[in-house]
Amino acid sequence: MKVVETDLTKAKFYHFYPCIPCVIVVKYKEKINGMTAAWNIGLSFNPPLFGVSISPNRFTYSLLKNAKEFTANFLSFDYLKTIASFGRTSGRNIDKFKNFRVETEESKFISSPILKNAYASYECKVVNIFNVGDHDLFVGKILAVHYDEDLFEKDTKIPSVEKIKFSFYLGSDFYFTQKSFEKVKFGEEEVLKSSY
Ligand SMILES: Cc1cc2nc3c(=O)[nH]c(=O)nc-3n(C[C@H](O)[C@H](O)[C@H](O)COP(=O)(O)O)c2cc1C
Repeated sequence: MKVVETDLTKAKFYHFYPCIPCVIVVKYKEKINGMTAAWNIGLSFNPPLFGVSISPNRFTYSLLKNAKEFTANFLSFDYLKTIASFGRTSGRNIDKFKNFRVETEESKFISSPILKNAYASYECKVVNIFNVGDHDLFVGKILAVHYDEDLFEKDTKIPSVEKIKFSFYLGSDFYFTQKSFEKVKFGEEEVLKSSY
């Protein structure tokens, strides 16, 4: 039975989940911090823009406002502990990298590092910040993409569902990965050939 909730103070709108969270890493002066962000989104091909919506309550927010650069790091299910711990603790109180033994590597163009164990990372320079209610949308221009080429298909460059155990976030403190999968190609050709 479908229901309609009109009291949006009570309604949890988790219906766009599952989604793939990334870990946003920012270095400002000598301080490096990272936080998990599920509200991330590709915004433009040319210029290549990637957005992330961050609450001013996060320690990362103030670093980001000053540094105007960040890296976005995608981790497989093998590193779920990193995703969860970077999203449930604050850099105001602890050094997450030391505490959770997370290794970094230097970026090519910016001083914020990438995560060594990420299967893909973006180096981004903040080009715009939009207030969107109780979060701000940071728009980053992607300067470099680091990725493990073995985990992406050679021709299409899409992620290999056979090789990457994705970290899907369901909301609250729940995650899952794929145990089996059904992969389909359904492009324009298949759309036109198909009967309806
Ligand atoms: C899976 C997951 C996804 C999250 N997504 C976001 C997000 O998109 N934006 C945001 O502002 N906070 C998000 N958070 C919350 C922050 O990661 C969390 O408040 C973190 O402790 C902030 O760390 P900081 O204070 O060191 O910046 C998320 C948390 C989790 C666990």
